[in-house]
Amino acid sequence: MTTSILSDLKIRFSKAIATAFGEEYANHDPAVAPSKDAKFGDYQCNAALGLTKKLKQKPQDVAAQIIANVKVDDMFEAPTIAGAGFINLKLKLSYLETQLAKMQKSDRLAIAKVEKPDRVIVDFSSPNIAKEMHVGHLRSTIIGDSIARILEFQGHEVLRLNHVGDWGTQFGMLISYLREVYPDALTKADAIAIGDLVELYRAAKKRFDEDEAFKETSRNAVVELQAGGAEAKLAWQLLCEQSRREFQKIYDALNIQLEERGESFYNQFLSDVVTDLRETGLLQENQGALCVFLEGFTNKDGQPLPLIVQKTDGGYNYATTDLAALRYRIREDKATRIIYVTDIGQSGHFAQVFQVAKRANWIPETVQTTHVPFGLVMGDDGKKFKTRSGDTIALKSLLEEAITRARADIETRNPEASEEFKQDVAEAVGLGAVKYADLSQNRTSNYIFSFDKMLALQGNTAPYMLYAYVRVQGIGRKGEIDFASLNVDAVKLTQEAEIVLAKHLLQFAEAIDAVAEELFPNRLCQYLFELSQKFNQFFEQCPVLQAEESERISRLSLCDITAKTLKLGLNLLGIRVLERM
Ligand code: ARG
Repeated sequence: MTTSILSDLKIRFSKAIATAFGEEYANHDPAVAPSKDAKFGDYQCNAALGLTKKLKQKPQDVAAQIIANVKVDDMFEAPTIAGAGFINLKLKLSYLETQLAKMQKSDRLAIAKVEKPDRVIVDFSSPNIAKEMHVGHLRSTIIGDSIARILEFQGHEVLRLNHVGDWGTQFGMLISYLREVYPDALTKADAIAIGDLVELYRAAKKRFDEDEAFKETSRNAVVELQAGGAEAKLAWQLLCEQSRREFQKIYDALNIQLEERGESFYNQFLSDVVTDLRETGLLQENQGALCVFLEGFTNKDGQPLPLIVQKTDGGYNYATTDLAALRYRIREDKATRIIYVTDIGQSGHFAQVFQVAKRANWIPETVQTTHVPFGLVMGDDGKKFKTRSGDTIALKSLLEEAITRARADIETRNPEASEEFKQDVAEAVGLGAVKYADLSQNRTSNYIFSFDKMLALQGNTAPYMLYAYVRVQGIGRKGEIDFASLNVDAVKLTQEAEIVLAKHLLQFAEAIDAVAEELFPNRLCQYLFELSQKFNQFFEQCPVLQAEESERISRLSLCDITAKTLKLGLNLLGIRVLERM
């Protein structure tokens, strides 16, 4: 098992720099990167430039000393120095060949697990009870799941948490309304369905906004619920249960694993947050509310903004819950890396929560908290994604439409196929397309939701990638190849297209590392897209089944490893491959 070439090289060059110039240079950036242009080899070390000043030596001399102290001959041809002290490294063919053999024999493509696993929490999806899950939650679900999959693959311990909005003052109004219109609901568990629940929310809200007496009743219901009143609790549970069932349908369709730990879970810890903040001296009273004044956040008069932790009426809010959750995740879950996947509109919220938690000394040096923001989903018209009538899009119908469209495509391409086959292909392609379209964008930008684009067979789409995989399986079937029993140790690379493909295959670990570090899944999509392109070029230029025996084995191996990489890579994006389509 190996780590990525890049991370391996960074370690080797760091050591070489320390050996050449002394331990005080041990933390100097080795500045190793893949080469942008093949004429400079495959990797470069650009550390010499940064060192010349300190060492008062010519960059070329610095580079020469680094080379004299680095051991890379197991992987690379002799390093060369170009221009102003750049060290260029070219992979040895023999190294490529042995690595390919290792990859093919391994069920994880010879990618090692991390030595020191983190305890990671990925907080994602997190819809709100009694409201419909919207496209923003869909993005969070797809991106969060992919991030969790990648970290799990690397060997980290991942807790996937669904921070469901199942607490708060809106329940007062819902419970009161429920009592009015569905008095039965509290005794018959199945008395209302979610369609009604969203409707119920609207109706309750309307009543709340219009009727003072109802407002008062609702406030009392909140107090009742928070005090643990049996009937209020039952009504609340009923609402949660109904919503949960609807959410689960989406998770099942998308194959998402999540552990529900909603806002209500932290209710019991909210007062500790206040106590703790008071003890650390951060808490201040402001117009009756308890708050922490933030650093770097000011109102329009330049005064520091307060983060309210307890409202005048004694109630807590979204931020208090997140403070309690963060504290719990560090103390009780012992998380070392906490990742929150929400829309970009919540960036301020998380920056504030993180800041207060830091200043309260809840976040040790060893713990990393990260907000992973994403942009809006837009319609074809460039406006916020809505149905024609202007309603928000229900996720279920959106996923169904993707499947229906993929189904129509397979009907025209392969009308003779069995019903079961067509449906299976339609689901994998339709849902894969929705996920891939989302993941392949730089998540921080808004993205345009277009069924036509995401289902296209050409371009950076799921169908394009799935086809590349199917193509290899087709080669295997045609040649009656048992890929598992190929003599991969006989792999010899001779053609340029083979070498280009092989080098790209070896960079899979780098793409995974990059996503795990920076949390941009589009980096992996881009890698897989380039892989499909390089594979197609190879396939156009190099006959496989018709080739001479020795070339045939090498090329079949390249096909097989490409397929395995596509399969694993797509799996890390939550997309399942098909053997035929
Ligand atoms: N329920 C929230 C929403 O729909 C998202 C929660 C995200 N997670 C968190 N820990 N705040 O916007």
